[in-house]
Amino acid sequence: MTEELLNLPVPQVPTGDHGVAWLRSNVVRFTNGPDHARKRALTTKLIEDVNVTTLDELATALHLPGSLDDIAKIAPCYQPHEPVTAEADAAVERLAGTHDEETAARIGLLVQAWAATNALAEHLRTGNPAPPVPITRRATETGVIEVSLDGHPFGHGPHACPGRALATKIAKNMAFKAMHHQDEPLILPNAWDYTSAAALHAAGFHAIGTTSLGVAAAHGIPDGMGLAGEQAIALAALLKDLPCPITVDLESGFGMDAADLVAGLDAAGVNLEDGRPHGLAEVREQADLIARVKERAPGVFLNARIDTHWQGIAIEETEARAKAYVDAGADGIFVPGLTEPHDIEKLANLAPLNVLAQNRAPKELGDLGVKRISTGSLLFRAALHHTVATAKAVRDGGIPQAFSYEDVQALVSPGTRSVAG
Ligand code: HEM
Repeated sequence: MTEELLNLPVPQVPTGDHGVAWLRSNVVRFTNGPDHARKRALTTKLIEDVNVTTLDELATALHLPGSLDDIAKIAPCYQPHEPVTAEADAAVERLAGTHDEETAARIGLLVQAWAATNALAEHLRTGNPAPPVPITRRATETGVIEVSLDGHPFGHGPHACPGRALATKIAKNMAFKAMHHQDEPLILPNAWDYTSAAALHAAGFHAIGTTSLGVAAAHGIPDGMGLAGEQAIALAALLKDLPCPITVDLESGFGMDAADLVAGLDAAGVNLEDGRPHGLAEVREQADLIARVKERAPGVFLNARIDTHWQGIAIEETEARAKAYVDAGADGIFVPGLTEPHDIEKLANLAPLNVLAQNRAPKELGDLGVKRISTGSLLFRAALHHTVATAKAVRDGGIPQAFSYEDVQALVSPGTRSVAG
């Protein structure tokens, strides 16, 4: 029924030659028939031509750099049933320059992107499964009706969202970044394959990381030697399907160009470490690497792992490295082995701090300033432990508890994959 309703024409808007009225009467969103087909092709082409990780980059790619403040003024007045403010009209005129169809398409696309993507990011951050745009409108013979978008978060039919893939990527980036600026620390479980990640998401975790030990060891490869790059990249490609942000442990880049690697991953976050298979990177070398990655993919949360502390090197060196990496653009710092409250507080002042799960409650770590608690390889090691324990229990005549066959099938069935994309 909803699909039939969404196939109906969209309500007409009056023609306008200025401000929001001009914008409305020229964008794809409020047109029908052949006009719609032409404008839709133009919009789709604009979207296909961009490869960006943030809304700011999208604005620049659409030749509207620095325009998001104006877009934020236009967005609440964009729908035909909303009143137009003088501020919104002025914002459209500032951005428009020439009043042609392509200009309207670029502004309209950014307006559509801005409001809905911010809403989706917030839903992803909080795990809200409702459609971020709850209703839309259609024209019937008896007047305009509201159509619920429950079950169709990106619409359906001729007006279905052409920006879905791009929006999902940007919203996941935004949500993941916001998860590092909450009062309570983000609890980030680390998965080693598709189903372990899907099970963790289904259990209510809003973001999932990968564990380099788990991914490498599951393929019979030792960790930390840069040898499991192919496997980590293949897993990242699978995890893109999950309706939550994913962060990928890249060790030190697997001997590849880390900037290329990150730009091609489509992950909301990455861990990049300064440990190398045979020692530590120079601070400058690692800071330059971080800067290059952030330049290519500014929206991807770069968690700079510092490998000094667990090697017994003085905390001052860890702090100096943390400062250098944050100055280079790192969004967060990760110090494995960090447990001393005084050290935690000191480093938490520099940037969102990630520590491994330890013998302290999340609340206690949060009070010390920690913003992210990861499980690292713990879940993989626990799974291995339970696998062997379960086999032994069977040998001893028991049937231990496990996910059912149906539970696992449900985690990998296409219908369960994504509200967000
Ligand atoms: C990069 C971000 C985005 C871009 C560029 C974008 C672009 C567009 C455009 C141009 C349209 C109008 C298409 C037409 O009328 O033919 C549209 C429609 C739509 N978009 Fe998006 N959008 C973005 C993000 C989102 C997000 C995050 C959501 C919500 C999850 C969303 C939900 C929708 C829906 C429901 C419609 C259809 C409305 C209807 O049929 O009445 N969009 N989008």
